[in-house]
Amino acid sequence: MPRDFIAKRVAELKPSGIRKFFDIVATMDDVISLGIGEPDFTTPKPILEAGIEALRQGETHYTSNAGIYELREAIADMLEEKYQVSYNPVDEVVVSVGVSEALYLALTAVIDPGEEIIIPTPCFVSYQAEVMLAGGVPVEVPGTFENGFQPEPELIEKAITPKTKAIFIGFPNNPTGAVASRENLLAISKIAEKHDLLVISDEIYDSLVYGVEHVCFAALPGMKERTITLGGFSKSYAMTGWRVGYAAAPANILGGLVRIHQYTVMSAPSVSQLAALAAINLGADAAEEMRLKYDRRRQLIVSGLNEIGLETFLPQGAFYAFPKISGTGMDDEEFAQRLLEEEKVAVVPGSAFGSGGEGFVRCSYATDYTKIEQALERIGSFVKRCGG
Ligand SMILES: Cc1ncc(COP(=O)(O)O)c(C=O)c1O
Repeated sequence: MPRDFIAKRVAELKPSGIRKFFDIVATMDDVISLGIGEPDFTTPKPILEAGIEALRQGETHYTSNAGIYELREAIADMLEEKYQVSYNPVDEVVVSVGVSEALYLALTAVIDPGEEIIIPTPCFVSYQAEVMLAGGVPVEVPGTFENGFQPEPELIEKAITPKTKAIFIGFPNNPTGAVASRENLLAISKIAEKHDLLVISDEIYDSLVYGVEHVCFAALPGMKERTITLGGFSKSYAMTGWRVGYAAAPANILGGLVRIHQYTVMSAPSVSQLAALAAINLGADAAEEMRLKYDRRRQLIVSGLNEIGLETFLPQGAFYAFPKISGTGMDDEEFAQRLLEEEKVAVVPGSAFGSGGEGFVRCSYATDYTKIEQALERIGSFVKRCGG
């Protein structure tokens, strides 16, 4: 037997709790999936057409490492217009292979071995894993249902040690749907300044908010110089398969990200970059139409879950509801497993998203309205039968 060739830091990574579930779902028929965190919509037509046309025009080559200039410019203009934060498209924006790559770039560029990154949880499953892959230590600061899963500035400050390098926030939040309040973000900005910390802010769901404002962290006073903003196209424009996103940061920080990007992926796919440009220029109406549909589904799923007796706070962003299932007497793993086996409804155990997620499950409402209605019926019978 050859020796074990896998690096220790990789061997120590747990497989994603989400993927594990989908491997089971893939083997079953008639499952209603509230599991997956991706729009059920196909990419809107004007964006699709732009992608197809780009291929026809022979746009099949590498682009400049940081991305097609016109797209970087459009991203900078969009951030300026939406949030009044200015990035120079020449050296402050990089187009990445989804926010997934941007996350990797940001963490790899800033973490020295053993440095700590504070992460309010529950959060997107990749944050902790990417911190560990970059040689860092994720320090989780759990939010609570009672506090609407807001990031808690006092707890964040308490978690700071001499090894802390950055605070990593992801709002609107996957999996809770919480949108961080301006007040809390301002308090976090003061902490970042006081302790000279970097802030990495994953704002991939910035356009998916319902009746509340999304605050761009970098736009807060003094924050641009210590923030890496991550954003993308996957969610708001239904473009998950195109694999395109971006990072924006001051040139002295962004240069580090671009260096890694150059050596690892060279450039994001050319055709996807041109489709992303079309999304910014032509996709606003379609994005708004999808947002309104998500909003309708949000009302349905939240009131449905509450009626079933699974207490669910009203999410203000993204496309997830996060019902509390601890009252059923099951833990979140058992609840999700049995719901899948007995009623063929897929949800994701909250503990997959880090501390604070135990006792909850994530239900994505990026699913057809009628399917959500059916799923609610099935969840209702399950809870009635097994809910303690
Ligand atoms: C909070 C968050 N960040 C980043 C990503 C990754 O998105 P992308 O498709 O742009 O890589 C996801 C996808 O689920 C997400 O939920």
